[in-house]
Amino acid sequence: MPVPLKVKRCAHIELKQVVDEKDGVLSIAEGSKEVPFEIARVYYIYGLSYPKAQRGLHAHKELEQVILCINGSFKLMLDDGENRQYLYLTDPNHGIYLGPKIWHTMFEFSSDCIILVLASDRYDEADYIRGYDQFIDYTKSLR
Ligand code: TYD
Repeated sequence: MPVPLKVKRCAHIELKQVVDEKDGVLSIAEGSKEVPFEIARVYYIYGLSYPKAQRGLHAHKELEQVILCINGSFKLMLDDGENRQYLYLTDPNHGIYLGPKIWHTMFEFSSDCIILVLASDRYDEADYIRGYDQFIDYTKSLR
């Protein structure tokens, strides 16, 4: 059982899995099915051999994403402006849904780590909040 999420606007996502015994395993993510939005963009992160590497350190105003660790492992920190939680991702069939306005960081990557991200929209720098204080002010202004 995955750890319960105390951070708002986030959820565990279980992909469809097809196990072909000796011939491997398929994990399947369809838009508006396993993934709770239509997928507009896919990107992946790799080459994470620097032990102190950090990614994320931002929130999005509108964008929704599902973050998956499809190889290796890493830690994901989620912060909704009031609650903060740390997760350890290792399972390629299990992702985390991040709704809008979630400050997140990724760190402690295994050197073979590959992160797959499914996003609800195309890249738009104007949707980013790249300062934590600015993020807190933004979430407070919406309460
Ligand atoms: P960023 O979203 O900060 O990466 P992460 O969340 O993995 O830490 O993006 C890093 C850089 O890459 C930034 O200069 C913007 C650019 N970028 C794009 O051009 N298109 C994209 O779809 C993404 C995700 C990033």
